[in-house]
Amino acid sequence: MFRIGIIQNSPRFLKVKENILDAFSLMEKSRADLWVLPEFFATGYNFKTRKEVSSVAEPISGGMTCGLLSSWAKKNNCAVAAGLPEKSGSRIYNSAILITPSSLHVYRKTHLFGDEKKFFSPGNTGFWVKPFKNVKIGVMICFDWFFPESARTLALKGAQIIAHPANLVLPWAPDGMKIRSLENRVFAATANRVGNERGLRYIGSSQVTTPRGEVVFRLGANKAGMSVATIDEKLALQKNINKKNNLFKDRRPKFYA
Ligand code: ACM
Repeated sequence: MFRIGIIQNSPRFLKVKENILDAFSLMEKSRADLWVLPEFFATGYNFKTRKEVSSVAEPISGGMTCGLLSSWAKKNNCAVAAGLPEKSGSRIYNSAILITPSSLHVYRKTHLFGDEKKFFSPGNTGFWVKPFKNVKIGVMICFDWFFPESARTLALKGAQIIAHPANLVLPWAPDGMKIRSLENRVFAATANRVGNERGLRYIGSSQVTTPRGEVVFRLGANKAGMSVATIDEKLALQKNINKKNNLFKDRRPKFYA
C-alpha cells in the first residue's frame, strides 16, 4: 500500500518562503509516501510581466524551493512533486520537480497554456518515470492533461501514479482525469489551488483517481486543505480490461501516426 497526499493551497502572490512554510504546515497534519503540491504552489501563477516571473524563478540546483522540499523529503522519508518557475540560463520554464530523499528530477511543462507562452519556454524534458519505494511515478503539469498523449506516454513508460500539479481555471479536468486514469489504468493525483488572483479564479477540486476511473477523494472548490489516499499501487500494473482485451497489447500504433 502507498499513501498519496495532496495539498490544495491558496498561495500569496510572490511570497515564496511564506507559501512554502504554509504548505509544510498542511503536510504536517498527516503522513504520506508521496506529496503532490500545485503548479507554482509557492509563487502564485497570474504573472503580468516577465520581470515578475523572473523575480521568483529559481534554479533547480541551489534554489531555495528545491532545497527546502529536499530537506522535507529527507526528514520524512517521502517523495514530493511540486511546481515552480525554473530559471535555467536565460530561459524560464514552467517546471515540476519530483524529489525523493536521494534524488531530484525535473519535468518542464510540454503544453503551455494561454499567457504562459509569453513568459515560459516550451518544455524540453519530455515525459519520464522514476521509482520511489518500488512505485513508478511520472509527472505532468496542469494543461498537459488535455493532451491524452501526456498520460498515455507516462503509462507506456510504466507510471503507476501520475503526479499532476495544476492551477486549473477551466472546469473539465476533475472529470477528465477520471478518464485519463481509466484509459491508462493508472492512479492520478491532481493537486490544484484555490482562490482568486488578479482576476483569475482557480477551481480547487484536487483529487486522487484510480485505474478504475473512481475518485478516492475530491476536495472542495474554494477552501485550502489537504487529504491523503491509501492506494494499492499494484492495481496500476494490471492492464487487462477483461479476459480478452489488454490495454497495451491491443493497441494498433501503426494507425495512430
Ligand atoms: C494551466 O495549465 N495552468 C491551466
